[in-house]
Amino acid sequence: RAAEKGGHDWFMEKEILEQPQAVHDTLLGRLSETGSILLDEVRLTDQDLRDVDKIFVVACGTAYHAGMVAKYAIEHWTRIPCEVELASEFRYRDPVLDRSTLVIAISQSGETMDTLMALRHAKEQKARVLAICNTNGSTIPRESDAVLYTHGGPEIAVASTKAFLTQLAACYLVGLHLAQVRGIKYADEVASVVEQLRAMPEAIATVLADLDGMRTLARDLSTRNTVLFIGRHVGYPVALEGALKLKELAYMHAEGFAAGELKHGPIALIDEGTPVVCVVPSPAGRGVLHDKIVSNIQEVRARGARTIVIAEEGDDAVVPYADHVIRVPRTPTLLAPFVTTVPLQVLACEIATARGHDVDQPRNLAKSVTVE
Ligand code: G6P
Repeated sequence: RAAEKGGHDWFMEKEILEQPQAVHDTLLGRLSETGSILLDEVRLTDQDLRDVDKIFVVACGTAYHAGMVAKYAIEHWTRIPCEVELASEFRYRDPVLDRSTLVIAISQSGETMDTLMALRHAKEQKARVLAICNTNGSTIPRESDAVLYTHGGPEIAVASTKAFLTQLAACYLVGLHLAQVRGIKYADEVASVVEQLRAMPEAIATVLADLDGMRTLARDLSTRNTVLFIGRHVGYPVALEGALKLKELAYMHAEGFAAGELKHGPIALIDEGTPVVCVVPSPAGRGVLHDKIVSNIQEVRARGARTIVIAEEGDDAVVPYADHVIRVPRTPTLLAPFVTTVPLQVLACEIATARGHDVDQPRNLAKSVTVE
């Protein structure tokens, strides 16, 4: 097993490091030189895709967080309303579905029973189902109308890492493809996003090369009972994912919040020294978003929080309010989760290791949950 781990202590560590390759492989052959998106495995006609008037993304766990990120991009580019729903809730609330609804089921394993039951329900209601999946020939893609495989390679660690980033890549491809097929308002933007997507593997590699600060900090935080995570826009699901990783691996109380919601309740949790991980968007582009989160960081710090800020290279505005700054390369807002998630994965892996847990096989969890 040591050899299979490629010299690493954990499969998770190895899989975190494989992320640039996994994202590269998922994009490979799907972005043409001219900036169009080629999705040959998607067996829905362009007309089917033009008829879509509503999208639901259904998934569980980490895949659900990928769906939450995807919603921002898909709605922005396609102008089709997009809802994200926990697969385990979906069919029990009688969602409104018909043949012009596209349901995107995201699943690394392709065998998660909650997601499978949600997709069966969608098909019964005549919706079209597109699977985003990492496992060839598994049940979810077999039962779907179309599939876009993530080419992440096998993921062994129970906690999902490279699958998450490849799911993001696949969701973005679907969003861009839908936008192109339907004739889009943001043609120039789509072309530039294609270019930016190509740069993501290298950006992820840059983050991975500079994580010693995060590792040291993780060891220092390993004796705490609570860690909170805040973010806005796509940084919000990233905050949720950071908290989920810490729960799964370190068995710590960890929660993610939309930073704007803090003042409506969660800020009461903050006490002297409470670690708060803040996911900060690029100051370029959506500047308002950046300024809002900087003031959220100020607010939590004023109440005693120890702030750990994940911010873009060159973002000096966060420095006065940050106890620790973890730098990520400059990345457009919508693509930022490719880089901001990575330090949070490392944080959870390191804290769990410092606490003496089995990172690859956390208690009470299974890699693939085949019961409802
Ligand atoms: C399990 C795993 C999670 C995973 C979720 C969904 O709960 O422990 O890491 O995110 O299932 O799995 P899937 O294979 O459908 O992506």
